[in-house]
Amino acid sequence: MNTLPTSPWQLLTVSEVDSTNSALKRMPDVPHGTMLLAARQSGGRGRLGRSFASPEGGLYLSVLLRPQAPPERLLHLTAMAAVAVRRAVFACCALRVDIKWTNDLVVRGKKLGGILTELLTGAEGTTVLIGIGLNCNTLPGEVKEMATSLRAETGQEVSTPALAQTLRQELQALDRELLTKQALWLEEFSAACITLGKTVQVIRGESRRTARALSIDAEGGLRVRYEDGEEATITTGEVSVRGMYGYV
Ligand code: BTN
Repeated sequence: MNTLPTSPWQLLTVSEVDSTNSALKRMPDVPHGTMLLAARQSGGRGRLGRSFASPEGGLYLSVLLRPQAPPERLLHLTAMAAVAVRRAVFACCALRVDIKWTNDLVVRGKKLGGILTELLTGAEGTTVLIGIGLNCNTLPGEVKEMATSLRAETGQEVSTPALAQTLRQELQALDRELLTKQALWLEEFSAACITLGKTVQVIRGESRRTARALSIDAEGGLRVRYEDGEEATITTGEVSVRGMYGYV
């Protein structure tokens, strides 16, 4: 394992690991901001227990945070990470990334990558792992119709270590202004959030309810209005957007 010269957040790199989130979980004593970048993952994980195909050529990175905020305010860390990814991809590839609430990174309606945020609560408080996966120079076979990659969008090979360094800077900057500039970056999140204004299905186990996506609240939650007029804030689970990923 190498330590790249970064300051003050450290970026560790490995060639292969099961999952960068799982590997960081096995390093409980590392400081706030420690990041782990893998060239490939043998057991990459997505949200809702799904797997995340992670062949060489993608960016697979996790950051460990020890936030001061209580666990119920942690949803906005996923939103913060999405904003950091947008900024980093724009800086490195001049490409605009959209966000499908809450954790999908999308270009032209196709999935570029995703974010997996996990919480560990213990005697010393809350530890958060934010894992980011992006298709950079390859497109994993099983997701081709609904997915895209940076290379497919720009026609250029992407340096994943360079993108990881830029992402580190963006994440670190956002982490510093997490509370002081929250309104600003949530505005950026909302402006990039393609879920807003769309018909969505809110999926909870077997239940599916159709709603209109209205806005993002101060914690990063999704305000929706169901067909019967009831309004609610969605903070977990799955929200499908009509017209995307096969939902017609
Ligand atoms: C999703 O689309 O559901 C989220 C995908 C998150 C994938 C990243 S890759 C780095 C980190 N390690 C993992 O096992 N998962 C996240």
